[in-house]
Amino acid sequence: MRVIIAGCGYLGVALARILHAAQWEVIGLTHSEESAAALAGEPFLVLPCDISQRENVERFAEDMGCEPAAIIHCASSGKGGAVKYGEVYLDGTVNLIEHLRPKRFVFCGSTSVYAQTDGDWVTESSPAEPTRNTSLILRETEEFVLKHSGVVARLAGIYGPGRSVLLEKFFSGEAVIEGDGRRWVNQIHRDDAASALALLVENAGSGIYNVSDGRPSPQFEIYDWLAKKFKLPRPPFGPVDEGRKRGVTNKCVSNAKLRGLGWRPKYDSFLDAVEEDVAMVKQARG
Ligand SMILES: NC(=O)c1ccc[n+]([C@@H]2O[C@H](COP(=O)([O-])OP(=O)(O)OC[C@H]3O[C@@H](n4cnc5c(N)ncnc54)[C@H](OP(=O)(O)O)[C@@H]3O)[C@@H](O)[C@H]2O)c1
Repeated sequence: MRVIIAGCGYLGVALARILHAAQWEVIGLTHSEESAAALAGEPFLVLPCDISQRENVERFAEDMGCEPAAIIHCASSGKGGAVKYGEVYLDGTVNLIEHLRPKRFVFCGSTSVYAQTDGDWVTESSPAEPTRNTSLILRETEEFVLKHSGVVARLAGIYGPGRSVLLEKFFSGEAVIEGDGRRWVNQIHRDDAASALALLVENAGSGIYNVSDGRPSPQFEIYDWLAKKFKLPRPPFGPVDEGRKRGVTNKCVSNAKLRGLGWRPKYDSFLDAVEEDVAMVKQARG
């Protein structure tokens, strides 16, 4: 039961730990040697392998000697734009599927492919018709994955210990309530995203699954709640950030399909996590 986690980063490591504990033989991949070396203390193997380069994946496949039971594509484009998206998401996926030929493949995509702006609920059968180049590449990758009987996980914004853009901006005083503040913010705690992916790799049939906590809040309400809870000023209103890489959207992402598989998040909402995940709040306060 060998599983390759291609992209052993913030989310990938949390997933690797769950699968290792569930008796999978985990091999994690990173882009750089430094990141692989930093994970040397983990109880699973982590190797550097640039999945966007066909020759690297071919070499890795030869070294490995047999086809893995599963691959989860969890690599991210970092701060890169459309070119990087093409390399990491599309080329990376094609290379992994064609040269490693896993029995199961899970792709970590994004809820940004829902370009809706009306604030209504979206499910996996809602139109996913983005206009930004970055999100179009995600859609192209999704189609390739589905054509090869894989699973597409559309993830909402990931937060957790050591990473919450919202909290960090709030505590540093950089936060701005954009426009009228009514845009819905969809998120998922890293540990819940990891447990969802573990379930998808083990139990889901081919198809699309939204991975969100299913309890979005308007941006204004989040900052207002944080201001009251921590007795700090509410952030000022400001313009909408139109430069957002994956586009400005406004929707509520349903997780009913994932819940239908029996998945339940540990943190029902971002505000619940702020109450319960003390380490996350401490780190964000600095
Ligand atoms: N973060 C979010 O809010 C969010 C929202 C929606 C979807 N997602 C998706 O969730 C997934 C995981 O995100 P994350 O936040 O955990 O990412 P992350 O912390 O940035 O980690 C990314 C990992 O991918 C590796 N990587 C990057 N390019 C690679 C390549 N060409 N070949 C092999 N490995 C490569 C990185 O290695 P190095 O450290 O060596 O660079 C790192 O281990 C991604 O698919 C991302 O698009 C994230």
